[in-house]
Amino acid sequence: MHVIWKLPGGGEIAAEVVEGLNLMEAAVANSVPGVIGECGGCLSCATCHVFVAEDWADRVGGPGETEDVMLDMVAGERRPSSRLSCQIIAAARLDGLVLEVPEEI
Ligand code: FES
Repeated sequence: MHVIWKLPGGGEIAAEVVEGLNLMEAAVANSVPGVIGECGGCLSCATCHVFVAEDWADRVGGPGETEDVMLDMVAGERRPSSRLSCQIIAAARLDGLVLEVPEEI
């Protein structure tokens, strides 16, 4: 599937992501600045915070319960479209997904 990360200072990184990979792993593999994934995807760091582009919000869905608690702890701004990208799994139905990297995670 194709994913685009929009960077806070302008610019974007696009990549093909293998289905089944989570989007934090995909961001790290593609050197997307601002997506760190410190805990390796076990929902304990929130350093993989992204905003899902408006058009994609419904298809991606909202956070789970633990993710929701972690999102309250992000240092930067939390928006309705905030997700922890380690919890979004690449799948064909998300082909073309656009994620925005927050200025401050
Ligand atoms: S990588 Fe730590 S919560 Fe997503």
